[in-house]
Amino acid sequence: MLHSMIEIHDVVKKYGDRVAVNQVSFCVQKGEIFGLLGPNGAGKTTTISILAALLLPDEGAVIIGGYDLMRETSQIKPLIGFVPQELALYPTLSAWDNLAFFGRIYGLRGTALKERIAAVLDLVGLRDRAKDAVRTFSGGMKRRLNIAAGLIHRPRILLLDEPTVGVDPQSRHFIFEHVEQLRSEGMTILYTTHYMEEAERLCDRVAIMDEGRILALDTTKALIGLLGGGVIYVRLAAETIETLLPAIRALPHVQAISAQDGRIKIETKDTHPALQELIELCISRDVSILSLEVLEPNLESVFLHLTGKRLRD
Ligand SMILES: Nc1ncnc2c1ncn2[C@@H]1O[C@H](COP(=O)(O)OP(=O)(O)OP(=O)(O)O)[C@@H](O)[C@H]1O
Ligand SMILES: [Mg+2]
Repeated sequence: MLHSMIEIHDVVKKYGDRVAVNQVSFCVQKGEIFGLLGPNGAGKTTTISILAALLLPDEGAVIIGGYDLMRETSQIKPLIGFVPQELALYPTLSAWDNLAFFGRIYGLRGTALKERIAAVLDLVGLRDRAKDAVRTFSGGMKRRLNIAAGLIHRPRILLLDEPTVGVDPQSRHFIFEHVEQLRSEGMTILYTTHYMEEAERLCDRVAIMDEGRILALDTTKALIGLLGGGVIYVRLAAETIETLLPAIRALPHVQAISAQDGRIKIETKDTHPALQELIELCISRDVSILSLEVLEPNLESVFLHLTGKRLRD
């Protein structure tokens, strides 16, 4: 592939006998937000730690920005901004001093360091809290500062490990906006999460991971398309149901129907045309629709289909 910023081939990582990452392969293109979606213990942090050059894989190959992770680590380090799942901040130091610490690790000094600190504080909306000790910050503010620390050295690749866990809705929104902003500036982003809504909203492509393996990898739309169809629940005036059921069953996009407590469950190949057919039928027969609910498959249902279990306990 031409513009892969991250390539990971057949990577295996074991902790003793436990295989945390099992034959994982994927590529992330420049300017892409790539999601690693999986439940607790799936192997997300282990994978991202390997990409951040913090853990060595037992098997396989990793190429980042064209460099081999095992042999060219020093070229790779400046390319990567890593925002760990566990907060890596000094609570007694101010936001500014925390960022100065991380900036110095990357060789920033003097005016260049000051300019970068000011820029990343602006980016995460914490400029006015620069002098305050981090222990006085909310969970969401700490997360945002953690992201700022990952960006201090202008990396080309940002690795975000569950960046919204434990944050308030406002900070969560803020993080989403900034991740999208960074993508529009050409940043390559790997984003791990166990929230399927986040993967659906943010990611260009998603790898579904469980028990160390990638089970499926594609755009959200294509992954959901694996399942196809959906379910429509409709409630009609009781006296009309008996006469209408055969007609609903005969609609071209309807696969199966059943009646439950006055509600009709309609399984469809494709919800949108089925919905249109249903509404047209009701209008033509002059039947009132009392309630209507459409359930389309989402990443959660894809995960359930692939693993037989739910993403969240
Ligand atoms: N340092 C370690 N020593 C031993 N086992 C580990 C270690 N780190 C992770 N594991 C195991 O490896 C597997 C994958 O863990 P990992 O932290 O990569 O999962 P995760 O997808 O990030 O989960 P979470 O959503 O809970 O953060 C788990 O079974 C975990 O218990
Ligand atoms: Mg993790």
